Amino acid sequence: MSMIMRQKIYWTDMSSRSDSGEVPQLTLSAIESAGAIVARELAATPLVRHPLLDRAVGAEVLVKHEHLLPTGSFKVRGGVHLAARLTAAEEARGLVTCSTGNHAQSVAFAARLAGTHATIVMPRCSPQVKRDAVVALGADVVIHGATLGEAAAHARSIAVGRGAPSYVDTTDPRIILGHATGALELFREAAALDAVYVPVGSGTGAVGACLVRDALAPGCRVVGVQSSAAPAVWRSWRSGVVESAPATTRASGLATSNGYASTLPHLRAGLDDFVLVSDDDLDRAAGLLASYAQTVAEGAGAASLAGLLAAADRPRRVAVMCTGGNASADEIARLGAA
Ligand SMILES: Cc1ncc(COP(=O)(O)O)c(C=O)c1O
Repeated sequence: MSMIMRQKIYWTDMSSRSDSGEVPQLTLSAIESAGAIVARELAATPLVRHPLLDRAVGAEVLVKHEHLLPTGSFKVRGGVHLAARLTAAEEARGLVTCSTGNHAQSVAFAARLAGTHATIVMPRCSPQVKRDAVVALGADVVIHGATLGEAAAHARSIAVGRGAPSYVDTTDPRIILGHATGALELFREAAALDAVYVPVGSGTGAVGACLVRDALAPGCRVVGVQSSAAPAVWRSWRSGVVESAPATTRASGLATSNGYASTLPHLRAGLDDFVLVSDDDLDRAAGLLASYAQTVAEGAGAASLAGLLAAADRPRRVAVMCTGGNASADEIARLGAA
């Protein structure tokens, strides 16, 4: 157990508490409520055009700099919203989850806000910098399994075995609603977008983008991007059934080894397109963000731009979600070579 003092610094919004076990609906009004909660804790992220990037891409490119959030990724939006909507049992018992790193930091952040405890199971492929960040946030880290799927099974067994802590699913609707607040900021600020590119791991961020787009900007295309070295969700999206696939990608945020029944119907209904890019494409996009957008992005954070660069027809005005900046030592080293 970490030695960091647990002090509640955030009080659950009793009006939004779901002790009844009621599952929140994924509606615009629920996303707007989440937006109000998230805005109490997190500043809106900058939406910036970078002239050299525009020129390199051949389009008006608005970069949504989600990597500037605390914990270095958009996932903290889900954690902040979760913290405000924990049930009494979750708050009393503590949280267990699994992640390669950014959801891990988000849940650790949430636990700290709510004054409770988090245990995070991370697979062996998770970068050291992300493990260290989770520990620094006061959570306990258990390293287990070669893949996220193996880590998830272990996390569930810890939650069941202890009888006490609550398992937090990566795609918990409270988390999806929190993630959607990034898209809410985007569509409120940027009018007349032709397309938005969103990275896909489990699909929560992409689901949020589709839901907000449907309500606020129905003419805008939402395009998902996944690594061809971890194509489980892409395959599931194409076939309509949850599929598994090896996840050998270097981009830890995209290293999901199976589709998710919870996000799949929304992705099928909402994504206009879903593209695969190689890990080398991710490195090249990360290199462009470093050179032309003053941004160090991890592979998953550069995936949106990689997807845009792979498009044969460039949209005229397009947003890319730069979702994370927790680059591993290897990713930083490869920036020089990109
Ligand atoms: C930086 C980053 N971008 C994108 C993703 C994919 O997000 P999602 O799992 O919501 O599809 C992740 C997942 O951890 C991530 O860490």
